[in-house]
Amino acid sequence: MRKPIIVGNWKMNKTISEAVSFFDGIKGKLHNDADFGIGAPFLTLKDSVLTADGLFVAAQNVHFEESGAYTGEVSLPMLQEVGVSWVILGHSERRQYFNETDTDINKKAKKCLAADVTPIICVGETLTQFETNETESVVRTQVKGTLDGLSVEDVKKLVIAYEPVWAIGTGKNATKEIAQNTCAIVRDEVRVLFGEDAAEAVRIQYGGSVKPDNIAEYMAEADIDGALIGGASLKVDSFLAIVDAVKQ
Ligand code: PGA
Repeated sequence: MRKPIIVGNWKMNKTISEAVSFFDGIKGKLHNDADFGIGAPFLTLKDSVLTADGLFVAAQNVHFEESGAYTGEVSLPMLQEVGVSWVILGHSERRQYFNETDTDINKKAKKCLAADVTPIICVGETLTQFETNETESVVRTQVKGTLDGLSVEDVKKLVIAYEPVWAIGTGKNATKEIAQNTCAIVRDEVRVLFGEDAAEAVRIQYGGSVKPDNIAEYMAEADIDGALIGGASLKVDSFLAIVDAVKQ
């Protein structure tokens, strides 16, 4: 049985004081029916880790080198020093605006897993790819590329987030059938590459305009183990409404 995993992705939102006040606002209101986490901006990570109670704090990116001449980048030792042990990798906004490739994401994933940091690896097709029926091949290629060379044990630990680019921040969420169908494809690709045990263990999230009023229908699907949530994770009220909606 896979434990549900609900992660907010704040993107480039919230100052340190705003992050702290969010974590204060949700204190004591979570439950154990799911794992909860928040992907917070780098500058807020230290204070977020200190204030977050009952949920993990994830970075939204990391560099694959430990140190060096990479102006503007942040390394794994820097994250670990402030108590961060989760990282969102390869979000479509990183792929789209910062040219991240499957190869980059794969390098980062390997470094994270070697350092005991758990990656949430994002995959998903663009609107054009969706309209030209390329979803399956795009997603299989992304899973293969980002997980290349990982061990079965590593794959069992990590999380994959399926986020159709056309559903992110648009209010146009994928139907539960589309989300389930593509998450099943993701799981099948894991099965092909790493075997049945890895496919059964890996947790797969859906992301893209998930809200308090639609989370339950996604969570009811067999291959959807959680959600990666942007806009609806920014406010205490809507985050807590999602928390309540996944209580069993
Ligand atoms: P959204 O973002 O929930 O605002 O659509 C999801 C994401 O980008 O992870």
